Amino acid sequence: MSRTYVIDTIPGDGIGVEVTDVVTRCVDDLAAAHGFTVRWRPRDWNSAHYLRTGRMMPADGIDQLRDGDAVFLGAVGTPEVPDDVTLWGLLIPIRREFDQYVNLRPMRLLPGVAGSQPGLEDLDVVVVRENVEGEYSQIGGRFGTGTDAEFAVQEAVFTRAGISRVARYAAAQALGRGGTLVSATKSNGIVHTMPFWDEVVADVTRDVPGLQVEKVLIDALAARLVVRPTSVRTIVASNLFGDILSDLVAGIAGSIGIAPSANLNPERRFPSMFEPVHGSAPDIAGQGIANPVGALWAAAMMLDHLGEQAAAKALTQAFESTLAAGTATPDLGGTASTEEFTAAVRARTTGADS
Ligand code: NAI
Ligand code: MG
Repeated sequence: MSRTYVIDTIPGDGIGVEVTDVVTRCVDDLAAAHGFTVRWRPRDWNSAHYLRTGRMMPADGIDQLRDGDAVFLGAVGTPEVPDDVTLWGLLIPIRREFDQYVNLRPMRLLPGVAGSQPGLEDLDVVVVRENVEGEYSQIGGRFGTGTDAEFAVQEAVFTRAGISRVARYAAAQALGRGGTLVSATKSNGIVHTMPFWDEVVADVTRDVPGLQVEKVLIDALAARLVVRPTSVRTIVASNLFGDILSDLVAGIAGSIGIAPSANLNPERRFPSMFEPVHGSAPDIAGQGIANPVGALWAAAMMLDHLGEQAAAKALTQAFESTLAAGTATPDLGGTASTEEFTAAVRARTTGADS
């Protein structure tokens, strides 16, 4: 009996569409080779959908995704629509409605990739980002618009339950990765939420045998990641801090284009969502030069989550050995187009000549 997975794809905008196309083709190859089937459910929920209907996704969009096994998202965003509309109309509701409270963002120095500096061979960082609360909140407002006294208020929301569960998840990750967990904080400048973050992280991790927790102020952590990136293995961070740190680590490892992201509901009560970290990159969209590695790595995380470990490994090995052989897109200093890179990956997963 063949295993079948229902996966909703939301290609989105710009290069999101380009890299999602690469993912579906590569995963279909792997499915054929590894004895499973994927039933893709493509969704045209993007900025054009918003301009046409006034909504990024239909009113019952979340319900349409609910019975799927996973969601794969390319990226959303276009200069014609404000970025808060695209993000809050699609991505953030999916993360919240499906309680995808862990955003897992691994990064390593990939074979054949120079990275930003020498000495990165041991780079291996996982950012565990809190994904449903924190600084990203709709509480607040703009006041006195058009007057000299105009101001804006933005409230952050941190809950004991929310911090505890992401800290617990991060602690488990850290235990399998050397035993040290770095907690990103800013409890000197942000006087309510960040001391609370520190306290709850400490409460949850205090009695975990074999775990060391290092509390590091986010500004110093940013500098340390640039200067000594291999001194950090596992990071737990709030929504905003984790967002920024994962781009920083990807940049150190060579390109934002290689970074993957898994929005996980660890209890599996809802579908989890997989996506590259990068956005829609309007500056290179349509040129056929987007790096599909971030999306492919995210797809490998999705296959792993679905229980298809062999296929996940084969996909990872395929993009790694393609890079190792010197085939790379321009963001990594190469000359390959998205299509050339993809052909090289597919040749490795299907055994065909490229
Ligand atoms: P971005 O990640 O789209 O691009 C930043 C820079 O990295 C650009 O120079 C771009 O060309 C390059 N880049 C990104 N991914 C690449 C890839 N795969 N291959 C080669 N080069 C790549 O971030 P930016 O410019 O801040 O945002 C563009 C739009 O994307 C905005 O509308 C933003 O809101 C949206 N966005 C959406 C996200 C999502 O849907 N998850 C995440 C981040 C941004
Ligand atoms: Mg980001």
